[in-house]
Amino acid sequence: MIHPASIQEVLEKCQIDDVVRDFVTLQRRGSNLIGLCPFHNEKSPSFSVSPSKNIFKCFGCGKGGDSLHFVMELENLSFPDAIRYLAQKYKIELDETVTSEVQKDEQKHLESLYLINDFAVKFYAKQLWESERGRNIGLSYFKHREFREEIINEFKLGFAPESGNALTAEAVKMGYSLEYLQKLGLTNSQGNDFFRGRVMFPIFNMSGKIIAFAGRILIKDTKAPKYINSPETEIYVKSKTLFGMNFARKMIQKEDECIITEGYTDVLSLHQAGISNVVASSGTSLTRDQIRLIKRLTENVLILFDGDNAGVNAAIRGLGLTLEEDLNVRLVTLPEGDDPDSFIQKVGSQQFKEYLDKNAKNLVQFEMTHLLKSAGDNPQQRASILSQIAVTISKVRNPLKRESFVKICKDLLQIDENAILFEINRHLKKDLEKASSERDTNEPTPILEFKDSDYDNLSLGDEHQERDIARILILSGNQYIDENKEVMVGHFIIQNIKDIINGFDHPLYKRVVELFLQHSMDGIAFPDAAFFINHEASELKNLAVSFTISPYTLSENWEKKWDIFLSQKIPEENFIKDASDSLKRFRFRKIGKLIRENLMVLKKMDVLQNEALYMNHLKLHLRLKEAQASLAKETGTVVVG
Ligand code: CTP
Ligand code: MN
Repeated sequence: MIHPASIQEVLEKCQIDDVVRDFVTLQRRGSNLIGLCPFHNEKSPSFSVSPSKNIFKCFGCGKGGDSLHFVMELENLSFPDAIRYLAQKYKIELDETVTSEVQKDEQKHLESLYLINDFAVKFYAKQLWESERGRNIGLSYFKHREFREEIINEFKLGFAPESGNALTAEAVKMGYSLEYLQKLGLTNSQGNDFFRGRVMFPIFNMSGKIIAFAGRILIKDTKAPKYINSPETEIYVKSKTLFGMNFARKMIQKEDECIITEGYTDVLSLHQAGISNVVASSGTSLTRDQIRLIKRLTENVLILFDGDNAGVNAAIRGLGLTLEEDLNVRLVTLPEGDDPDSFIQKVGSQQFKEYLDKNAKNLVQFEMTHLLKSAGDNPQQRASILSQIAVTISKVRNPLKRESFVKICKDLLQIDENAILFEINRHLKKDLEKASSERDTNEPTPILEFKDSDYDNLSLGDEHQERDIARILILSGNQYIDENKEVMVGHFIIQNIKDIINGFDHPLYKRVVELFLQHSMDGIAFPDAAFFINHEASELKNLAVSFTISPYTLSENWEKKWDIFLSQKIPEENFIKDASDSLKRFRFRKIGKLIRENLMVLKKMDVLQNEALYMNHLKLHLRLKEAQASLAKETGTVVVG
């Protein structure tokens, strides 16, 4: 039992920002800090930390609380374990009475699992360092592989003796339950040890608790698998674990990059050589959960492949996920026959780093080189390369990044850019069709903006403009547009789009506009950003939060996208110009849409049957064309047809 005074001491010492920072990268936003919420999946940060109040709160999923809540929730810790974790972090010695054998059995389920793993890791380490077999076989094996004592200790490596049930017998004698030993996979169904005659690699969670083990075989030529692993349990979910994350986490944040290797020994060797921002995927392709784990710490990933190339094909397929999650990925294949462990031991960390820098490729380059190699000169196979690369590029969310990938692709394949765009659009369209029903209203899917007609096909072209109008309204709707303080941005916008408000496709953005329209008609003051951030409707709140967090990102992309249409650049800081340009483009698009709709009606209509109606539509057509032309002149757009 932990003494209440100790608990008090720990709770008083805790600094929420300090505690959270071990898991989430935070950025200052006013007096608060914000970051990506570790409790739910999100792309723009709604997780906020208040150092002055010493609490955290996520505006997306609603989770909130103090340091204790944070670690309990995130690491699935019991109350006493959370206190122990925090005490360790702040180097506070706990006044704690040791639990008895009986109490051990009574302790909560999860705690027991961790306790047994703790016992096992000590058991295996003791075997490694103190037993004769352990020293002669296990320790000498690690030494033979040039692992130094401090790294063996840091990673808590061990040795599982060959004899039938050494661990199980001792554990049971100590009062640990056989049922739990079996659950954890340490003991098999016959009551014998599962790991025997193997060197042991404990697998840790983010906060450094042991959640599983991997045992490596020592004999070379045998049919037995090289590694055997603990089964999944409540505390060990393979797809959510990255080996080495607890050791690497701080350096990943510091270096702003995460190196991913295939194997446990790679992580050890790189750590030993002073490269600590490294984890292992444990030989499988990355899962979405693992990517999100990394993304809490950094957006930059460097993936190292063993030189045997065996896993590359499978790996490439999995890498689309990293694009979907918007990570910056570089990839390196190590020299033939080497893995990161053997290579760094061979050449040292300096040359190792140089090799990485020189050979790192982005995903498209990497995939392309790989595919080109196997396609040779065969034109048919080359054509299929394009289609495969297009799938990859179509997954890139960031339009600028996508553009640069198209360029790389063009240069490498030496084909017409339009052919590439066509392929990409084909895949995009397929994806959009698939996703359109479940599309998240807060995150418009950016599409490629190349030709006017592409917009029409994908019919998402107005979303950016509608979003931008909503953004301007929320962020600066209640500010004055003129020096005399007579007209507000909100009025200006509402005046300009009142007549086409029904043309809004996107319900959420339309809602924002309608809200301003209502205020304008009622003659009451316009709401400010805080109004929306504190709005009870979560979709409005989220929208406002995403705007406040990166108020200019959209406008940047926009500027880029509309370069072709604008003779003049939009000054980012000038929201007035921004607002009026947005409006013009919005009207321009909407008018285009009305023209097409009107033309459809006209085409279907029989003049002789209802001449008056026909004439009305014709007049409307002419008026719309006129409006379009004058807008085009203002924005420097060329109207075709
Ligand atoms: N792996 C596994 N089971 C196997 C083989 C491999 O779980 N039978 C996983 C392990 O996580 C291993 C990783 O795949 O670390 C990479 O495999 P490999 O390169 O073969 O092993 P290394 O870790 O490099 O081990 P060593 O250096 O001892 O060869
Ligand atoms: Mn390897």
